[in-house]
Order: sequence, then structure tokens, then C-alpha cells
Amino acid sequence: MNDDFPRERTRIAQLLRETATPGPRLVKGWVRTLRAGKEVSFIALNDGSCLAHLQVVVAAPLNGSAEMARLGTGACIEVRGELVVSPAAGQHWELRAQEIRVLGEADADYPLQKKRHSFEYLRTIAHLRVRSNTFGAVFRVRSALAYAVHRFFQERGFLYVHTPIITANDCEGAGEMFRVSTLDPANPPRVDGAIDWSRDFFGERTGLTVSGQLQGEAFACAFSDIYTFGPTFRAENSNTSRHAAEFWMIEPEMAFADLAEDCRLAADFLQYLCRYALEHCREDLEFFAEHMEKGLLEKLEDLVGARFQTLTYTEAVKELQAAGERFEYPVRWGCDLQSEHERFLTEQVVKGPLFVTDYPKEIKAFYMRLNADGKTVAAMDCLVPRVGEIIGGSQREERSEVLGARMAEVGIAPQSLQWYLDLRRWGSCPHAGFGLGFERLLMYVTGMGNIRDVIPFPRTPGNAKF
Ligand code: 4AD
Ligand code: MG
Repeated sequence: MNDDFPRERTRIAQLLRETATPGPRLVKGWVRTLRAGKEVSFIALNDGSCLAHLQVVVAAPLNGSAEMARLGTGACIEVRGELVVSPAAGQHWELRAQEIRVLGEADADYPLQKKRHSFEYLRTIAHLRVRSNTFGAVFRVRSALAYAVHRFFQERGFLYVHTPIITANDCEGAGEMFRVSTLDPANPPRVDGAIDWSRDFFGERTGLTVSGQLQGEAFACAFSDIYTFGPTFRAENSNTSRHAAEFWMIEPEMAFADLAEDCRLAADFLQYLCRYALEHCREDLEFFAEHMEKGLLEKLEDLVGARFQTLTYTEAVKELQAAGERFEYPVRWGCDLQSEHERFLTEQVVKGPLFVTDYPKEIKAFYMRLNADGKTVAAMDCLVPRVGEIIGGSQREERSEVLGARMAEVGIAPQSLQWYLDLRRWGSCPHAGFGLGFERLLMYVTGMGNIRDVIPFPRTPGNAKF
């Protein structure tokens, strides 16, 4: 082995910087394409550290060697060579190979050969699609934005709390919890014919969390400003491009905040994340702008500078009724806004990001603060073009009696949430928060049209293979 070469590999992202310097390098990665020639062969090598491939130039005596014969698209290799300024157009640097070792061969059955594949097909090979340009870009942006989420809140003094995954509380009250149980499904213990959940592992019915909010509120009532960022589960059997059964949600909660401050934080947060992506994921965003959504960069830049509009639910309903548009679901005051309505409001009415506030209490969760009219609650949804609802939040009901009455109205037994009621009994305070769906954010930032394509291994009805 040639001693001139460093023992440590250099990531390709680092090699391709304008500020890189020529010299001997060790690189490792996967062959994206191989153009074999008699005199010279060219390998496009990618190690996932950036979108661009490193051009590896293989000349005699290495070209045509036995090791080169083992090399095909998809193979994993290590290359020692000299990094030089490329004389050819298309790239700034190239690596003149002096030594190539195949670490893992790939034969002609490797599915990611040159031709383009549909996203549907790529979902069936979720373990390999990450080696494609599109999914490489998606998951680099995902990683960068996960970091930016923490940075945003940590810079502002919010405490990060890990709320439980297994819980007895159906926060949203929509009955969409996956059950967690160790009872024998074929022969569960019964009392009077009904399953005796008191004999289950936790001594009561439990499931996977649909939201960390309720526990987040307990922490906000001690640390003032907190956030969660974790996996969230919903057994809603809706096969849409925007719903997953397992997704990640960021939920800040602020003591002493009202709905207006909640909206302000939400707008600041979205703008921060878009700015972060523009500053740190440029190459990947340019790829998305070219292949997924024309005008993507301008859209993100506009959002960073945008003044978010606000419409009350009542105003939004009037706008929709006045629009003269034929919706699949007709609009009347009191109905839940469907995705078609949300998109119409953000795409056609305000043409930008929008908060819809003060929804009828009947279509929102029990914990939202009742407005003075007795009919609406201090709720907000943030809507953005193409995605629709990206954030849902509210001011919380901090008044013990009002909360108790509301729970009774919707049929939640007080003893099942006594601890939550206690927060209103001792040291209650006005507070507010929201939830941002991390995958919805990624759809917005990348222009990817399906939630299945922004989460590593999607869980949707009928699909948990990987
Ligand atoms: O509007 P949601 O249901 O609100 C809550 O869960 C509150 N507890 C949040 C809070 O106030 N702390 O969900 C919040 C966001 C939605 O706006 C959406 O972006 C995302 O979570 N979301 C989903 N994302 C993917 N798949 C699903 N099935 C989703 N359900 C909600
Ligand atoms: Mg919602």
C-alpha cells in the first residue's frame, strides 16, 4: 500500500469545496455510474455527504485491472488517488485513481441502475432509495432541519422535554390511538364479557401517543418555555399524501402566552427553519427547485420575509362561500375545513402563509381555551400553499371549572385526566402552544408531494415492511 496516502478517508463534500487543496486522498463511497473506456474509465462516486459526485479518473495501469473488472453500479469502493483541478468541464475537482479496492460488489440486478424510477417503485426499495439523488437530498435536508429545530428553541431558552411514547391519554380525543397491550388477543381476561384492561401491563388501557402536549403543559407550568420533538402515532385510516401513521412532531408550549404570541412564535419558527435551509442546504434545494417544484427558492425566500395573514374561522368560511368555487365538501359555519378548503385559502385567497383562528369548539380538542362568545375556542391552524395545514395549536383552557365542564361535554371522565386538571388547581397560568408536523415541513421545504417520500421508512395503512 502506498504510504503517501492519508489513512483517514475524506468525505466527498469536503473534497469538492472550492477551498479544498490538491494532493493525495483516500475516499470511500458507492459507484453511481461507471463509464468504462479502453484508455480511461470514469467513476461517479457518492458517499452521501453531498449531492454532487466525485469524478474518479482511472487510467493505465489500473484501468483494465482485475479489481476494475469487479466494479459495477452500486458497488462500494475505496480509492486512493491524487485530487487535482479537473481539466474537463462539469466539475472543479477530480480524483486521479492510483489504487482501487472493491469493498462490496454489486451485480447487474442492483435496482438503481441508470434509468429514472418512479417514487412509487422506490418506496418498495426503501432500504436502497436513500442511495439516489432525490432521497439523498431529502434526508440531508431532514437532518439539517432537525438540528435547526433544536437550535431555534435552545437559542430562545426553551427546555427540551422527552414526553412519553406510551400513554393512557388520547390527547386529541379522536380515538386514533394504536393499542399497546400484553394481553393475549386470543384469550384476554374478561369481566362481565368485556376485556378486563385492569389486568393489562399498565393496569389500564394504553396506546402510543398522538401528541406530547398534555405532558408538555405540565413541564411548561414549571419551566415556562418548553418543547418536545418526537415520534407521534395516529391510527387514522386515511390514505392521503399528507398523513402517516408514524410521524414526528415538534410541540412548543409557553407559559404566560396567549394565542397572538403563539402565532408569533409559529411564524418566527417557520421563517427560521426556511432561512436555515436556504443557508445550509443550498445544493439540495437547488436540486429540488430543478426537479420537484419550480420557484422553490423564491417561495422559501418569500416566506422568510412574509407577513403572515390571519383570518378568523368565521372570516375564512365567508371567503370560501363567496369564492363561487365548487368544493367537494360544501362549506357552512361549523364544518371542519377540509384540505381543499385550506389550500384554497392559502393558495387563492391570501396567496401565502395564513393563520386561521377561533374555530367552533365542536370541531376542536377539549383543551382549547373557550372564547368569550362561548362558541369558539382560541385555536390556530397555520396553512401554507401546497401542503395546507402545517401547524395546529391553541391557547389552553387554564380555568379549572371551564375545563371540567368542557371535558364533561365531550365525555372525558375527570378521573382519567385528574393530573391534567390538577395543573389548573395549583398554580394555573395562561399558556399556549402548537404542534408542527415535521414531515409536512419537509414537504413544504423540498417540494416533495408525498409524505411517504420525506420519512425514512414510512408507516401508512398496510405498509410497515422496512
Ligand atoms: O393539529 P394536530 O392534531 O395538533 C396536535 O396534536 C396538538 N396537540 C398540537 C399542540 O397544540 N401541541 O397536529 C399538529 C400537526 C398538524 O398540523 C400536522 O402538521 C401534523 O401535526 N400532523 C400529521 N402529520 C403527518 N401525519 C399525520 N397523520 C398527522 N397528523 C397531524
Ligand atoms: Mg390539526
